[in-house]
Amino acid sequence: MIIGIDIGGTKCAVIKGNLDENGKIEIIKKIKTDTKNIKPEKALDLFCKQIDEIADGEKIDAIGVSCGGPLDEKRGVIMSPPNLPGWDDVEIKKFLENKYHVSVSVRNDANACALAEWKFGAARGYSNVVFLTFGTGMGAGLILDGKLYSGTNGMAGEAGHIRLASDGPRGFGKNGSFEGFCSGGGIAKMGKSEAENALKNGKSLSYCKNIGEIDDISAKKIAECANEGFDDAKEIYRKCAQKLGMGLSILIDVLNPEIIVIGSVFKRAYGLLADEMQKVLEKEALSYSLDVCKIVPAEFDENLGDLAALAAALDK
Ligand code: BGC
Ligand code: NA
Repeated sequence: MIIGIDIGGTKCAVIKGNLDENGKIEIIKKIKTDTKNIKPEKALDLFCKQIDEIADGEKIDAIGVSCGGPLDEKRGVIMSPPNLPGWDDVEIKKFLENKYHVSVSVRNDANACALAEWKFGAARGYSNVVFLTFGTGMGAGLILDGKLYSGTNGMAGEAGHIRLASDGPRGFGKNGSFEGFCSGGGIAKMGKSEAENALKNGKSLSYCKNIGEIDDISAKKIAECANEGFDDAKEIYRKCAQKLGMGLSILIDVLNPEIIVIGSVFKRAYGLLADEMQKVLEKEALSYSLDVCKIVPAEFDENLGDLAALAAALDK
């Protein structure tokens, strides 16, 4: 029996799982909590209570933690992630090992998702895999030559930090970063700034009719309008797709992967992103590398975070 802890910017989950004799992973039980702005000390106490509850006296074989970075995987320290304010130098590995006396693997959420999609999902059987989160944030998990590559101190794959334009929506501390353009929040920010401009000029937009609706603009709302055929909403996704194509070109040129698996927003809004992304890729990426690289949405959706935390536990 293994335990996974999935730590996200707005929600956390503690998961009980099992690996059956055919190598299939099973989620047995899960407790989810809203944790927006929760302090780490409080969160750690909560996780322990929840672990005790779902373990229910059964022996725990390993614990995996999946969390947004930057984090030090070897030492198991969470270091000030942009989407977890107040989580500065949290020694979660040490804390859980002292408490449960089992092996604890702490993985960057993108790395953990890469492991889950590689072991159990869309990237099964490949040896060179890039996984991109494209959710609240933008992070990459890299499987290179059949092994998770974390870099010298766990920072490999912090792709969201790459600058794609001299200006643009802010993400990961920079205006115009990959995370600024390609994340749920980034899409909403682009939508908001378009809406502010339009409303100033007396126009209204499909996804925002008046100033009172500005704060309700979300990636989801813009996608709904785009899917109904509204050009102003489609344009926001086109801009995002263009930057996605640029970001992917860099990763393809540097890493020459066989497959790139993209989660969350990409999976949900594939139809709004794929064509423009492909156009940019054909212009920007080295064709030798592009020709051998598949780009697909993640296999898992709702439960990817759970499976990622469990996959981290198995990756000792
Ligand atoms: C973090 C990455 C993480 C990604 C997705 C980024 O802001 O820096 O480490 O993988 O968000 O949560
Ligand atoms: Na990574």
